[in-house]
Amino acid sequence: MKIGFIGVGKLGLPCVTAIAQKGYVVHCYDNNQSLIDDYKKNKINLYEPKIKEHFSEVKDKIIFAESIEEVVQNSEIIFVAIQTPHPPELDGSVRHNHVRMDFDYKYLLSGAKVIAHALNKTEKDPFKVISIISTVLPGTMRNQIYPAMKTIVHRPIGKGWGLCYNPFFIAMGTTMHDFLNPEFTLIGQNLDTGDNEGAGKILSEFYDTIQNSPKLRMTWDSAEGVKMFYNTFVGMKVIFANTIMQICHNMPGADVDTICKTLQKGHDRLISPRYLNAGMGDGGACHPRDNLALSYLSDQLGLPYNLFDFIMTVREQQTEWLAELMLQYDGPKVILGKTYKPHTNLAIGSPSVLLANILKEKGCNPIVHDPEIATDEELPKEAAVYLIGTSWPVYREWQFKKGDVVIDPWGIIGDQEGVNVIRVGRK
Ligand SMILES: NC(=O)c1ccc[n+]([C@@H]2O[C@H](COP(=O)([O-])OP(=O)(O)OC[C@H]3O[C@@H](n4cnc5c(N)ncnc54)[C@H](O)[C@@H]3O)[C@@H](O)[C@H]2O)c1
Repeated sequence: MKIGFIGVGKLGLPCVTAIAQKGYVVHCYDNNQSLIDDYKKNKINLYEPKIKEHFSEVKDKIIFAESIEEVVQNSEIIFVAIQTPHPPELDGSVRHNHVRMDFDYKYLLSGAKVIAHALNKTEKDPFKVISIISTVLPGTMRNQIYPAMKTIVHRPIGKGWGLCYNPFFIAMGTTMHDFLNPEFTLIGQNLDTGDNEGAGKILSEFYDTIQNSPKLRMTWDSAEGVKMFYNTFVGMKVIFANTIMQICHNMPGADVDTICKTLQKGHDRLISPRYLNAGMGDGGACHPRDNLALSYLSDQLGLPYNLFDFIMTVREQQTEWLAELMLQYDGPKVILGKTYKPHTNLAIGSPSVLLANILKEKGCNPIVHDPEIATDEELPKEAAVYLIGTSWPVYREWQFKKGDVVIDPWGIIGDQEGVNVIRVGRK
């Protein structure tokens, strides 16, 4: 099977590398030429374990094409991982101000149209599957991507080409592992007319050669929905755990970790322990934006309530509550950790950055330190007020000064002589 990949960014490159590791030749194209030039020089700015080593081991199997057309010509399955962004200020690191906004599909639509033109030049080729990975709201394949392609491709869908929606459930930093070991693989097709069945079958057979998760075939719309609701479910668990933290902080005797760890044991009815841990808000490039997009959809559908706006509001109000906690103490303010989670160098959608922004609104300019993001700012020499924004292992061992106050929403800092450690909500 010949594999193609269009859009080789943060998601694309590790997946391309993983597919090549399984023995496939992958034809790739990205219209950011400088990114491709960097990859060719083995310059990869991704926090992914051993990505440079893995990539160079399979470099002979990764062919960087000059155009989308070349990828379509040389591949039977063409994955599309083009960005569907929000404006940068809506990544969740500043207040969302109840904005409800769909993803921006202009890059994806433009790529899909070029793919459609390229399909017209491969009419004699074997069946080609276009597999869209990019995150989109339910209804986007049916209402936007397919109509845009249908008007260009001379043959109807199902006749020599098919279109699937195939989102990946990966976390930054473990992309290759998550791609090859998913809980399930979603294959969305337009089952309405039954004319796209072949595409899902080909895609499913390809996945059987690289991983053994259940392949779940459903409509485009259902697959789009599963992807988004999966992400926002994480946001809901996180605000739930953080609400418990806030209550415990104000309740003598109640300990957030005891409560969360006990709830995590509710295997029968309360699902997995992951994300049911108190700390900072949910972050990253996808989750806050997924809430904004679903807020927008809830309004469009005239829902009488907006759960997703509520998740974002609680996320912010908890961050503001931590800001107020810092401001109760005198001294310069320092946030330890800028990335949205440990073991990444990305600060997109970071709750630490949101905290810094909220402190700035209140007239306080904090220093933000991170082991992976360089800054010119020096840590204060005098006693200061620290907040552990990201639970980097290096902060567990951090030696604070006498007189420092350390606010620790994660509960990872041990006692230190002369230091006031506040393990929020923990006894
Ligand atoms: N990063 C993640 O953790 C993750 C996880 C699941 C889903 N997603 C979704 O996958 C999509 C891609 O995410 P990403 O993080 O890799 O984004 P990214 O911005 O890192 O990568 C997208 C790449 O597509 C390229 N591109 C844009 N238009 C193109 C075109 N016409 N032809 C060829 N290349 C083109 C860009 O140059 C860029 O390198 C988004 O919709 C995102 O929401 C991302």
